[in-house]
Amino acid sequence: MKALKIALTGALALGISGVATADQYEDAIKYRQAAFTLVKGNFGPMAGMVKGEIPFDSAAFAEHATNVAAAAAMADDGFIDGSDMGDTKAKDAVWENRAEFDKLMGEFQQLTQELAAVAKGGNMDEIKPKFAAVGKTCKGCHDDFKSK
Ligand code: HEC
Repeated sequence: MKALKIALTGALALGISGVATADQYEDAIKYRQAAFTLVKGNFGPMAGMVKGEIPFDSAAFAEHATNVAAAAAMADDGFIDGSDMGDTKAKDAVWENRAEFDKLMGEFQQLTQELAAVAKGGNMDEIKPKFAAVGKTCKGCHDDFKSK
């Protein structure tokens, strides 16, 4: 019943009553994938500005950075126990090596928050190293915890 308890105490449980169902696991998978879709959707234009491919708009950049931090904060709620099967690219390693996954997730959330804070200053020289640090966390986690 541990999985059920975790599921029911998580953000996903809002509005869901009764036992954990296959639907609930599917919802969890969709939830975390949606969070990562939001991460990517905001990170893309930021990368363009950092590389100078699109003009730097500090207000837009700061808004994207805030959105990335918010989506990063939500992403981990979707990795509930029992949601390792189905239409997911999450590797079994997420649940088998949970401590390492949680550590990387924690660093990701911390760095995205720091990037959001730095972005408010609008100084590209300060933004660049922080952006690169966040960018490293994507591959650092995907290599071990996400299948291609
Ligand atoms: C702590 C681990 C971790 C970090 C950090 C991380 N990801 Fe992921 N990401 C995953 C896992 C696991 C999945 C697979 C989710 C699934 O399919 O259930 C995923 C899936 C995705 C997806 C696919 C979503 C979909 O619709 O299937 C995208 C896009 C993505 N991540 C982008 C990023 C970007 C960009 C970053 C960095 C800015 C990042 N991720 C950082 C673990 C991570």
